[in-house]
Amino acid sequence: MKALNTLRLAFNTVRWNISGNFADVQRDYDQAASTYDSYYGRYLGSITDQFADKIPLKGQERILELAAGTGRLTSAVCKRLKPEAHLTAVDLSEGMLAVNKAKNGHGEGPRVDFWHGDALDAITERSNESLDAVLCAWGVCYFNHDTLRTQVERVLRPGGILAIIENRKCTLAEVSALFEQLIVSQPRYLRKAIKINLPEDAGYLVKKFCQGQLEQINSWNGTLDIPYESASEVREYMLKSGASAGFLDAIEPAYLDEFLHAFEQLVAAQKKRVPLTHQFSVLLAQKA
Ligand SMILES: C[S@@+](CC[C@H](N)C(=O)[O-])C[C@H]1O[C@@H](n2cnc3c(N)ncnc32)[C@H](O)[C@@H]1O
Repeated sequence: MKALNTLRLAFNTVRWNISGNFADVQRDYDQAASTYDSYYGRYLGSITDQFADKIPLKGQERILELAAGTGRLTSAVCKRLKPEAHLTAVDLSEGMLAVNKAKNGHGEGPRVDFWHGDALDAITERSNESLDAVLCAWGVCYFNHDTLRTQVERVLRPGGILAIIENRKCTLAEVSALFEQLIVSQPRYLRKAIKINLPEDAGYLVKKFCQGQLEQINSWNGTLDIPYESASEVREYMLKSGASAGFLDAIEPAYLDEFLHAFEQLVAAQKKRVPLTHQFSVLLAQKA
């Protein structure tokens, strides 16, 4: 534990040296768009579907979905909506949104619109009390949570729903520790700072989002272990699933192959299997 803390301190020192120059999440997601569903979606997709099933919807809602990506949640929610419902899917990555459009933009079922841009800009444009639900799967880590809460409270009509699922700070902890170990040993690998705002746990989501007009309906923590056979599969998962988005762009491009190779070697060299485990939290809340 102490070793890890020392490592984190060193890692933070490396980060501070490049603070202000943040990695480009959009670029990493554009690159992961074609493989995202086969990796992230393959395993966490069923967790997203279970989350979608638990959102209290009647079927006629006006919905804003933030960080909608390739549309796993969009599809799952649309199945529960009637034709008179309306969902707007927002995402910063054109590549991710294009995959979503191909799946959900066919004109059957509820009306689905696509909005390319920043999620906080999209919600800020909405009128007061104009929405029945704001949804976000695996994207809230990219937003300022206080700004999001203020906007959600403003745009939801009374009785409206906020539903969030997100990785926790401790997600993929063992793999992240190996990433950090490599960067501390070779600070030249890192050229930009990483800005990701993951929640501690479900308790954090309740405290952050239910301090004003929103009341908790339900919240919980969950875990999903990603199976793999070899260190190269861990490298592949981190590269193609989007799980390293916001991190890959932070690596000096000239060293990216070297970094990934060294990472794979490090995973292979561990005495025990390195857990590839997502830890996540869910919040379902309602405006009073
Ligand atoms: C892990 S993916 C989740 C995608 C989808 N919701 C799902 O369940 O598979 C995160 C998404 O957040 C998007 N994103 C990141 N920052 C964003 C921002 N500021 N505004 C809108 N979308 C953003 C990324 O482009 C990416 O598609």
